[in-house]
This record gives sequence, structure tokens and C-alpha cells, in this order.
Amino acid sequence: MTDRIHVFSDAQGAAEGCARAIADRLNEAIALRGTASLAVSGGSTPKLMFREMVELGLDWSKIQLFWVDERVVPPTDDQSNYRMTRENLIVPGHLPETQVHRVRGEMEAVAAAALYQSEIEAALGPEPRFDVVQCGVGDDGHTASLFPGEPMVADRIGLVAALWVAKKNQWRVTLLPKPILAARSLYVLSSGADKAVAVQSALQGPDNPLGVPSQMLRDAEWFSDAAAVQHLA
Ligand code: 6PG
Repeated sequence: MTDRIHVFSDAQGAAEGCARAIADRLNEAIALRGTASLAVSGGSTPKLMFREMVELGLDWSKIQLFWVDERVVPPTDDQSNYRMTRENLIVPGHLPETQVHRVRGEMEAVAAAALYQSEIEAALGPEPRFDVVQCGVGDDGHTASLFPGEPMVADRIGLVAALWVAKKNQWRVTLLPKPILAARSLYVLSSGADKAVAVQSALQGPDNPLGVPSQMLRDAEWFSDAAAVQHLA
């Protein structure tokens, strides 16, 4: 098993480990450049990590917050990654609204993607390098909203895209691989036995990027519970 995987007995341990690593990198960026940029994923796994991050004394006034992907739904929708993040990470009054760069899920998807890309470029330049990107892995091997078989999984030029995800019956806006892989620190948080096959495929499976988008995370630093890495050699 690669030394870039930190294995914990349970999901809480993995969440704490990932939260601390992210906080350390953000503090280093703030010390170096006076500001830090963080792109987080949605879904359910990050909730525990977000709750840990709130306790780590980060100076949110110096952090620019982005999302790796978003469901194209209103920000009040229970499917919204922004809503989940607001409920678990964003402490009211700590993070100025101008530093919360959410995907405008209430808009039409392609327009929302274009606006989001322009916000990223305005904040980080035309070749954006986030200080930290945190990804998850779906049980089908997707990451961000890059799903198996989607040609955009092979895109190494674009920054942001909108796509219809038939299996989720949902429009999504997602970072494309380039800005994810350009991160100064790229972390993957995974937990649960239901992810074990996907994690094994991502890290040790035969190369099949269109079939296992999370294979692009092979050089990332992983934080996982034992259940999710049980199939790794
Ligand atoms: C999303 C996420 C997605 C997520 C995986 C894992 O919008 O759903 O960004 O890429 O990381 O689907 O989701 P869970 O953490 O809910 O298993």
C-alpha cells in the first residue's frame, strides 16, 4: 500500500486526519502569501471533516472557499453542496461572503459553469492553483462530478464544465482535472466498506481513466478508514 495513504480505524479518525492536514496547509499558505484558497467536495463524507475544521482555529478572514463540484440546484436545496458546507463548515461571521465562491446552482447549468470559472479566474488567475483541493470518491469510481465514461475525464485543458449526470438525474457543475491536479495539496477523504472496490480501482486497478475517473487521484494524499482500503494489496 502506498505511503500516501493514512488509514484510521474509523471515519471520524480519517475526517480528523484530513481536517488537520488541510488546516496545516492553509495556515502555511496564509503565513507565506497572506491568503489561502480551498476547494472542498460535497456529498456526505466531508461533513465530519468540516465539523473538525471548525474547531481548528483557522483564520477564515484570509481563506477563499470554492467547491470541487456542485449540484445545479438552489442553495437552499438539500442536494446543494453549498448548503451542506454552510451547515457544517462556515461559521456565521467568520467567512466574508465575498470569499465564498459558490456555484450559482439556481442558474442554468452552462451559465452557472461559465460564471463559476470566471470567479475562479478572477480570484486565482487564468492558471488557477488552489492551495488545497479535497476530493471524495464515489462507489462507482467517480470523483468531483467526473463520472465513468464521460469524455471530460480525459480533458487536461479546461477548468470548469457543466454536465447532465443521467444516473443522478441531475445537472452538475464540476472542476475539470486540470485545476484539481494543479492543487498545491490534493487530498482525498474516503470512508466506508461501500467504497472499498472504488478505492482499490482508483489506486491499484488497471489503468482505465474513462472507467475510473478517480484514478487521476493516484498521487494525492489519501485519508481513509480501514473499511474503505480493505481491498488494497
Ligand atoms: C458530490 C461530490 C462527489 C463526492 C462523492 C462521494 O457532489 O457528490 O463532490 O464527488 O465526493 O460522490 O460522496 P459521499 O461522500 O457522499 O460518499
